[in-house]
Amino acid sequence: MSVPDTWWRHAVTYEIYLRSYADTDGDGLGDLAGARVRLPYLRDLGVDAVWVTPFYPTSDHDAGYDVIDHRAVDPRMGTLSDVDDLVADAHRLGLRVVVDLVLNHVSSAHPWFRAARLAGPGSPERSRFHVRPGRGPGRERAPNGWQSIFGGPAWAPFGDGEWYLHMFDVEQPDLNHDHPEVAADAEATLRFWLDRGVDGVRFDAAGAISKDPDYPELPAGWQAGDPAPYSDREPAHDMYRRWARVLAEYPGDRLGCAETWGGPSVLATYLRADELGQAFAMDPLFWPLRAGEWRDGIQTLLAATGQHGRLPTWVHGSHDVRRAASRWGPDGARAVLLLMLALPGAVYLYGGDELGLPEVDLPDEAIRDPVYRRSGGTDRGRDGARVPLPWSESPEPYGFGPPGSTPWLPQPPGWGAYSVLSQSRDPGSPLALTRAALALRPGIWRGQPAEVSWLDTPPNLLAFRRGVDGPSCLVNFTDRAVRWEPYGDAVLLSSTPSQDGLLPPLSAAWMR
Ligand code: NOJ
Repeated sequence: MSVPDTWWRHAVTYEIYLRSYADTDGDGLGDLAGARVRLPYLRDLGVDAVWVTPFYPTSDHDAGYDVIDHRAVDPRMGTLSDVDDLVADAHRLGLRVVVDLVLNHVSSAHPWFRAARLAGPGSPERSRFHVRPGRGPGRERAPNGWQSIFGGPAWAPFGDGEWYLHMFDVEQPDLNHDHPEVAADAEATLRFWLDRGVDGVRFDAAGAISKDPDYPELPAGWQAGDPAPYSDREPAHDMYRRWARVLAEYPGDRLGCAETWGGPSVLATYLRADELGQAFAMDPLFWPLRAGEWRDGIQTLLAATGQHGRLPTWVHGSHDVRRAASRWGPDGARAVLLLMLALPGAVYLYGGDELGLPEVDLPDEAIRDPVYRRSGGTDRGRDGARVPLPWSESPEPYGFGPPGSTPWLPQPPGWGAYSVLSQSRDPGSPLALTRAALALRPGIWRGQPAEVSWLDTPPNLLAFRRGVDGPSCLVNFTDRAVRWEPYGDAVLLSSTPSQDGLLPPLSAAWMR
C-alpha cells in the first residue's frame, strides 16, 4: 500500500516546550513572543516543523496540560494574535507549526467541571465526565481499582457519593467523549486552530480518549502495556477517523499526530489509511544501547507501520522523559540522533537536546510536576527535563528571560556553559553536530527507499544501507573504536570525530 509523500512522513519536528523556551516579559514563563523571536534559530538549526506545547488558560496543575479554555490563550503566554504572528513568521521561514490539543481531559477549573461539581449526583452536568457512584454502603470506595498514570487511584470523590475519573492528576478530570456536546466541542477546537492556519495537531494522550462504559476491573495478572479498558479502544479510532476527515477538509496536508505510548502493533493502528499521519514511537526512548535491541526494534516498527503504507515517527526526547544526554549519556544521545535521522520516517527532537542539556536534579521544593506528589516523592517526576533553556553565557537566567528575572524552574550553576551562544562558537558542540546533521539529511537520506538493508557486522555494531547504492549508517555500540571502512567508502558525518579510519565507541557515522 502506498500513500502520497507528504511533508510529515519525513519531517524533523522540534518540540518547543513553550514555558521553558524563551521568556520575553520576565514573568519566568516562556511565551509565544519568545518562541517567535527564536524562530530564526530553528530555521538555522534546520528543522522542518515546530510542535508548540500548550499555551491555553490553565490552572497549572500539570504544566499547562490542564486546560481551562481550549480556544483561548493564557495571558501569561500571549494573545491569539501572538499565535497568528507565530504561525505567519514560521511560514515565512519555511517552518510548519503543530499545536497540542489536550482533548482527553480538562482542568478542574474548566467551567464544565465547576458546573458538574455544583450540580450534584445524577445531573446532566456530570454526564460530560466519567462519573460513577462509589462502592460500599456509604459509597466511600472508588468505583473500581483503576490507577492514575501519575500514580494513586484514578478516581476522586465529589463528596456526595459520586466519583469522577482522572487518568492523570486529580485536577484533570477526563471528559466523556460519548457525550454529544463533548464530541462537538472537541471538533470545534480542532477546527478553531486549523482555521488559524496551523499545519498540524498533536493529540495529547491519544489512546486514553475512550473508556469502556462498564468500567470493568483490570484482569488479574494485568501488566502495564497489556490492553486496558481505558486505552487504545476501537471507539477511540472512530474519533480519529472523524478528526482525520476534518483535517482532510483543509488544504495543505494537515497533520494529525497521535501521542501514543503503545508498542509497534498498537501505534500502527492509529496509522490506518483513514486515520492519522503520525503516531509516536516511544519504545526506542528506553531501548538499551545494544545493537540487537535497536536492530530488532527498528525492523518491527518499520514492518508494523509499513503495513499501512506509513513510516515510523521516531522520538528522540520529550518533556515527559529524562533528557537524552542523561538517559543515553552524552555520546549515546548524539549517536542515536544520527541513527534516527538516517532511518525512514519522521523524527521529533526535544528543545534543548540539541544543546546536550543534562537532566537537572532539582531541589524538592522546586518540583512542580504532580507525579512527584502523587508518587509520595518516590518518582521525582519530569521537571528535571524542563529547566528553561540557556541562550547566552551570562548573566542569569542566561538569556531565557530578561536579566534578573526568575525562571519558573531554577537553572543550575554553570547552565550558561551549555548555551546556544557558547555552542555556536564550538564546532565540536552538540549544537554544531545537530546543525550539520540536519543540513546534510535531506541530501543524503531524503528520497531513499523506505527499506533498510542490514549489513553483516560483528557483535554490537549496527549497519544498514538505504537503497542499492545508497548511503549507509554505522552505529558502534561497543566500547572500543572500530574500522568503518567495511561499511562505506567515506564518512560524511560522525557523532564523534573519526580518526585513522576508526569510529570511536558509542558513535554513529553516515557514509557513502
Ligand atoms: C502527555 C503530555 O505530554 C504530558 O506532559 C501530560 O502530563 C499528559 N499527556 C497529560 O496531559
